Amino acid sequence: MLTPHPYLTTRSHGFLPSPVRDVWEASMRPGVISLAGGNPDLTLAPLEWLADASARLIRDRGHEVLQYGAGNGSGGLRESIVELMAAEHVHADAAGIQVTAGSQMALDIVTKLLCEQGDTILVEDPTYVGALGVFGGAGLRVEHVPMDADGLVPEALRERIRHLAGEGRRPRMLYTIPNFQNPRGVTLAESRRPAIVEICREAGIPIVEDNPYGMLAFEPRRLTSLHELDPEHVVYLGSFSKVLAPGLRVGWAAAPGWMRRPLQLASESTVICPSPLSQALAADYVAHHDFRGIIANAAAVYRERATALRQALVPLLPAGSELTEPTGGFFTWLTLPEGWTTHALLDAAIDEHVVFVPGASFCAPGEGARELRLAFSFETPERLAEGARRLGLAFERTAASVAA
Ligand SMILES: Cc1ncc(COP(=O)(O)O)c(C=O)c1O
Repeated sequence: MLTPHPYLTTRSHGFLPSPVRDVWEASMRPGVISLAGGNPDLTLAPLEWLADASARLIRDRGHEVLQYGAGNGSGGLRESIVELMAAEHVHADAAGIQVTAGSQMALDIVTKLLCEQGDTILVEDPTYVGALGVFGGAGLRVEHVPMDADGLVPEALRERIRHLAGEGRRPRMLYTIPNFQNPRGVTLAESRRPAIVEICREAGIPIVEDNPYGMLAFEPRRLTSLHELDPEHVVYLGSFSKVLAPGLRVGWAAAPGWMRRPLQLASESTVICPSPLSQALAADYVAHHDFRGIIANAAAVYRERATALRQALVPLLPAGSELTEPTGGFFTWLTLPEGWTTHALLDAAIDEHVVFVPGASFCAPGEGARELRLAFSFETPERLAEGARRLGLAFERTAASVAA
């Protein structure tokens, strides 16, 4: 390991390398099937329309969309975001929307507002690795709370808060991804949602609800937003990355009243204003394009891919494995039997020309050694089936070393 430069702060050591980037090189080799990155498939995005709309916007409104813009985002986009959220049955107020450069930035500034260095926060076990990078860089103590097939477990949350209180630690926030969770693919049961909100409200813990995948449900369904259950205690993060294009870098926070002004100031001091050109494209997509149709089509394609991967993989799994069954989003999570390690499997998988992300990076320190995340969003059903076949060969090779 490199010795950190003495000019660098302790906090700077907290930023984590992305485990997706760790397998990036292997995934770029010719012929490799990647089940690693959580990338949307941009063949499902309206690229022709985006090309025309960009040219038109620059030609007709160049002096506006290439100029600095409002610190909290354009009024037009904030209205469009309210409409997009309404399509997911989430009610929000345009005045409470802060537009950001992707929801990653929203998480970063919300964390700055809610947490001091050394504070404790609660997250799901496992959780989105990009969030762990934000929390590491902010110098936070991260407590992972167990999940099951129905998402975060309310009793476990209550117990953890009680236990921490005994140590004189009050968590400063709960970070949760209730819908089609990254990396586990599970969804918080409707019956648990009011309980989670109530437990946190009673304990004085604000919730950060991260929902980039909620619109990509495989079956139409209503998922109650935690923000809607308690708009004054829950900050909602949304994104155009998975339902339009991540390269536009447009996300947002729907914030409680008390957070709006500090959030805008924190955002302005980070990026001055979110990109007006990207915002205008995102607003046009909602206002003048069939965004509902495009997203519904994408969800149907992702569903077909999830099924293709599952059907090909299940018969090949080592006895005693567990594979989550997502009902939307991009990911499924595999737990291998006792005695197996994901890192040994990854070496064998790379030899077989298939890659995935080992689970440990998403979990509490020391956990996740026999778990892994598989993304089905990017490859075709045929390639996913072939990827599963190659994983099957990797299982066979690794089984020999487990038995040895
Ligand atoms: C749970 C979660 N939150 C946030 C993000 C970041 O999204 P954005 O591109 O909007 O910054 C991702 C991206 O993979 C994600 O999976």
